[in-house]
Amino acid sequence: MSWKIQSMEDYAVAYQKSKKNPNDFWADIAKTFTWKREWDSVLSGSIENTDVKWFDGAELNITENCLDRHLKERGDKVALLFEANDPNEAARTYTYKELHETVCKTANMIKDLGIKKGDRVCLYMSMVPELLISVLACARIGAVHSVVFGGFSAEALAGRIEDCECKLLITNDAGFRGAKTIPLKNISDEALEKPGSKCIEKVLVHKRVGENVSMKEGRDIWWHDVYDAASSDCVAEVMQAEDPLFILYTSGSTGKPKGILHSTAGYMVWAAYTFANVFQVEENDTYWCTADIGWITGHTYITYGPLLNGATTTMFEGVPTYPDAGRFWEIVEKHSISHLYTAPTAIRALMAHGKEIVESKNLKSLKVLGSVGEPINEEAWNWYNEVVGKKNCPIVDSWWQTETGGILISPLAGITETKPCYATLPLPGVFPVLMDTEGNEVPFGKGEGNLCIKTPWPGMTRGIWGDMDRFKQTYFSAYPGYYFTGDGCKRDEDSFYRITGRVDDVLNVSGHRIGTAEVEDAIGQHRDVIEAAIVGFDHDIKGQGIYAYVITNRLGDESIKAEILAAVTKHIGAIAKPDKIQLVPGLPKTRSGKIMRRILRKIAAHEFSNFGDTSTLLDPSIVDKIKEGVL
Ligand code: WT7
Repeated sequence: MSWKIQSMEDYAVAYQKSKKNPNDFWADIAKTFTWKREWDSVLSGSIENTDVKWFDGAELNITENCLDRHLKERGDKVALLFEANDPNEAARTYTYKELHETVCKTANMIKDLGIKKGDRVCLYMSMVPELLISVLACARIGAVHSVVFGGFSAEALAGRIEDCECKLLITNDAGFRGAKTIPLKNISDEALEKPGSKCIEKVLVHKRVGENVSMKEGRDIWWHDVYDAASSDCVAEVMQAEDPLFILYTSGSTGKPKGILHSTAGYMVWAAYTFANVFQVEENDTYWCTADIGWITGHTYITYGPLLNGATTTMFEGVPTYPDAGRFWEIVEKHSISHLYTAPTAIRALMAHGKEIVESKNLKSLKVLGSVGEPINEEAWNWYNEVVGKKNCPIVDSWWQTETGGILISPLAGITETKPCYATLPLPGVFPVLMDTEGNEVPFGKGEGNLCIKTPWPGMTRGIWGDMDRFKQTYFSAYPGYYFTGDGCKRDEDSFYRITGRVDDVLNVSGHRIGTAEVEDAIGQHRDVIEAAIVGFDHDIKGQGIYAYVITNRLGDESIKAEILAAVTKHIGAIAKPDKIQLVPGLPKTRSGKIMRRILRKIAAHEFSNFGDTSTLLDPSIVDKIKEGVL
């Protein structure tokens, strides 16, 4: 590929060009894809007006670029490698030809269920090939996919279905996940009982586990009953560059989850460009990203990025510790994985099991190790580098977000020098700035501040589904004219960036984004809870843990804690369950009624000195009472 960066010189040239002449820079890259019509303009609109467009006027279908484009040269190459939860179940592969055919059949199958271009389709599935296939099948016919992570509850699923008014739900009877099975169809049924889910007309059920599920007449259809009859001929729908490709819900500091919207052409170019340059995957490599497709990492770096580049992408159904803590390394050995892309939480969890388990496996195939989702601490970075990579594999600590579509700051494997805990340098086309407390740019060079991005990049989100005001407010109002990431950041003397974590009320638990307000709402729905306040605290494995301070009229009754956990599981999902619940007589509030979270964070961290100015508190004595009961 003409735009593949191979050295620091290439990087410097590309970076400068993307700065001086972004339109030519991105046009040259875009030209290497398949279009049905070329663009009228490369970049139009602006951050100021929140109307950014890339490749406006162009027409394309992203699946032709993921699949059809490779058929001639790579038709028999493995596109998708599936490793099941059970290590004794045979791995499955799909060549590019087979994946193309399967996606076309699936696309026709969902078309036959009445789905048309622009309709939203909700995918609530476990990590089976049919999930990736359904994603691409939607894109094939221009339907907008909204994948909901299989760990979310019925209520959370219903909320997401309602928000973007999905017409079709695709699910599994149940999903295997480690020693557990997740009853996805039963949870779906419960979600569909809520009045807000009325928009769902059909439910397509893929059988994975063989669970006994009830099928509602006229609404529910087994995948295997209709798949065979579907034609394998599916002409790709012609999409406008800015047509929506998908919606993915993520948590913010306030309110309910936001439906982050990504559009077609810009996202495609960004996914392809960043995948190729960050990971430097070669033709015969086997790349494995351990994320779930329910998160953005699985969209961009299991599905679109690798396939756009004609790579072999691996999908793993299970968890790192099943049947034992050697599973990841076993998979690496079994499939000669060359590129492993995982989260610091997984690294820390496996690190706790000792290096012998890693050393007992042959990991010689590994070339590149990626990290994503949360800050990686130095100890985990070193262990990844030494024990897993034998100091032979560059560590790619890649920083990005659901909203950014793909990686913005990261070393390019084997090209950029690495440094523990540093995401290092921005990709071409990315212009990060640090903002000081007054809202001014910190002069270039060593410094620290809130991380913003100065100019649009092709993969950036185009909006929050159905709420453009919230979109403007959340990302473009703190620093007018800039995209605000919500992250704090340091820049060292080499201009390397180090992301220090969220500066807003968003928690990052095991690499999962959790909004404090959502958890507070969930707890608040318990009838004996008067108020709850959530903060994060440092957690050895999860990065951050969830600490809940709860005011209840059952103060002293410890049994309410289990009920609180159940409430969170019901309203959001088990991933948002607090690690610690402290029942408190009150919360530190200012006279205007605002909770001083700063104090709660300090108490949760067992830092009892220097609470700062507490004179504005309505009842300063509450601080001591909370301190006494700290967990
Ligand atoms: C937040 C975004 C990136 C895709 C998966 C998570 C944190 C992400 C890093 C990193 C430090 C990181 C940030 C960011 N984060 N990658 N390499 N180093 N922090 O996407 O759920 O949208 O979360 O994850 O705080 O804002 P997400």
